[in-house]
Amino acid sequence: MKRIITYGSFDLLHYGHINLLRRAKALGDYLIVALSEDDFNTQKGKSCYFSYEKRKQLLEAIRYVDLVIPESSWEQKSSDMHEYHIDIFVMGDDWKGKFDYLKDNGVEVIYLPRTPEISTTRIKSDLNLDKA
Ligand code: CTP
Repeated sequence: MKRIITYGSFDLLHYGHINLLRRAKALGDYLIVALSEDDFNTQKGKSCYFSYEKRKQLLEAIRYVDLVIPESSWEQKSSDMHEYHIDIFVMGDDWKGKFDYLKDNGVEVIYLPRTPEISTTRIKSDLNLDKA
């Protein structure tokens, strides 16, 4: 049983997110999404349109996602690898190299190519939600 984990905000869920989750799940058997809590997003200078609970509800409805856990700090990743018995850590390649240190926790670190031309930021900007 291969266990995979990925992290993110997944606001205004879009097909780039779905592509990432589908490819992540295909790497193994059990996919965990660590979803950024609202307070953590504030710390990162991000403001989500949907609340944590709504974003969690959407992710839990996706067939590729087996479990959603809260992400509340940058530091939790190393302990998550042990706590959730993770084999593979996956992120989009906008994060390339940033989490290589997790290999020291015995996990494989994989950066998947992002789906071009779509992002939460772009949706917000196209709908002028960035100015709301
Ligand atoms: N992702 C992807 N392809 C996209 C957009 C996102 O593969 N077109 C991936 C990211 O690389 C990340 C995960 O989806 O691993 C969650 O990304 P997130 O930051 O929540 O989504 P973005 O659309 O990039 O949001 P933002 O514009 O706020 O950064």
